[in-house]
This record gives sequence, C-alpha cells and structure tokens, in this order.
Amino acid sequence: MTPPRIVILTGAGISRESGLHTFRDPDGIWARHRIEDVATPEAFARNPALVQGFYNARRAQLRDPSLHPNAAHEALAELDARWPGDLLLITQNVDNLHDRAGSRRLIHMHGEMAKARCLRCGVVSAAEGDLSPETPCPACGTTGGMRPHVVWFGEMPLEMERIGEALEACDLFVSIGTSGAVYPAAGFVQEVRHHADTLELNLEPSEGSHLFDETRHGPATQLVPAFVKDLLAKWA
Ligand code: APR
Repeated sequence: MTPPRIVILTGAGISRESGLHTFRDPDGIWARHRIEDVATPEAFARNPALVQGFYNARRAQLRDPSLHPNAAHEALAELDARWPGDLLLITQNVDNLHDRAGSRRLIHMHGEMAKARCLRCGVVSAAEGDLSPETPCPACGTTGGMRPHVVWFGEMPLEMERIGEALEACDLFVSIGTSGAVYPAAGFVQEVRHHADTLELNLEPSEGSHLFDETRHGPATQLVPAFVKDLLAKWA
C-alpha cells in the first residue's frame, strides 16, 4: 500500500509553547494592536514607521536566544525527514520555528518575518535586524520601499497554486494550532473533506471544528508528537 499523501496546516498555536503569542487568544497580539493600524497595506502607506516598529519588535523575539522550536515543531520535522510519501507543511506563521526545527517541505503562506521585500524592485532579502523607512534595499539600493515580507490583510497569500494542487491530491489533512478565523486557510478543510481524512489538533475547538472527521484537543507539544509517532509506527 502507498502511504497517504499528507497536508498539514499550522497556525500560531503551534508556537505558543515556545513563548510566542497567538493572535486571537485573550493575551493575543490582536488584543494589544489594531489590525488596521499595523497589518494592512493601507497602514503601511499611512505610517510605515509604526508598522515597521510592530514587526521590528516581533522580529527581535526571533533573535532572542531563549526562543527555540518546541516538541511539536520537532515532531513535524521528524515526520518530514522520515515520511516515505508526499507531504506538505503549510504554515500561516511568519516565525521561523518550523525552519529551525528542520522542516523542508514547507510553505510560509503568510510570508516570513525574517525577510524583507523591496516595493521598488520586488527582490526579497534576509532581514534579521530592524527595518525603517531609511533601510536601503540590498539589491537596488533605494530607500523607503523595504517592507516586511509578510502577507497583510487584503493581500493574496503566497504559493496558492502549489497549495491548491497539494490539497486536491491529499489523502490526509491535519490542522494544528489555528483558530480557523482567517481565509483562505480556514477554508482548506472544506476543500478536502470529501476526498481526504481530516484531523484537528488544537488547544480547544476551532471555529471549523465540526468540519473535521476527528478532533483532539490539548497542547500542541503533547498532541503533535503522539500523532507523528503513531503515523510513523504505521507507515515508516
Ligand atoms: N497548542 C495548540 N493550540 C493552541 C495552543 C497550544 N499550546 N495555544 C493556543 N492554541 C490555539 C488557540 O486555541 C487558537 O485556536 O491556537 C489557535 C490560534 O489562533 P489564532 O490566534 O487566530 O492564530 P492563527 O489561526 O494562526 O491566525 C491566523 O491570522 O492575524 C492573522 O496572519 C495572522 O497567520 C495569522 C492568521
């Protein structure tokens, strides 16, 4: 038998136990900042320094030596390394914890905080430090156009064609640590539920919980390693 083709979607909940805040929990990022001030193209056009400051603070968290991938990121990286069939990890997270854990078959559909994109020439470059309106683009040298390489509200997520193909072909879809509040990711389960098994692993029922064949609720660092162990024991 061929192993099932797997698509895994992750959200901010998988990084919570590494110390990064989610968005919509009571202590989440959107309880402290207004989306329309910091996470839209209009906000950036109106006040680039404010938006850069918001992402500079979040980017600084990525440089904190105490930040590490947790057991859930590590389990998914092990699955990636050992899974004998098709697998795609799609993350909505703009942190780099999946990358640091070693996941390779990975798409950052909402972009990456540790990268910048130049609005003048379009080149995406590494951006580990702070960005400001004075930051020059390393490719074209102009200033004023460097923005965080993240997808803001009202913008199209990245690599949607590749994602659509993987969803269409998958046999198992797993959603981890996401509230199911933001489309298009929130709609993935509806796209696959008639041809794939669907599983939700989340701290609590998400908005779309009822759409999944199976749901398991608890912290990602417990649920994800157990899920990966079972899957590898069966197939790898
Ligand atoms: N383990 C598993 N799940 C957890 C944990 C944990 N330790 N802690 C929190 N969660 C769950 C919450 O219960 C919630 O359902 O993670 C989910 C996080 O939801 P959101 O804060 O809405 O984050 P996410 O779904 O990733 O948001 C989607 O919204 O603002 C945008 O672009 C941003 O990518 C983000 C998108």
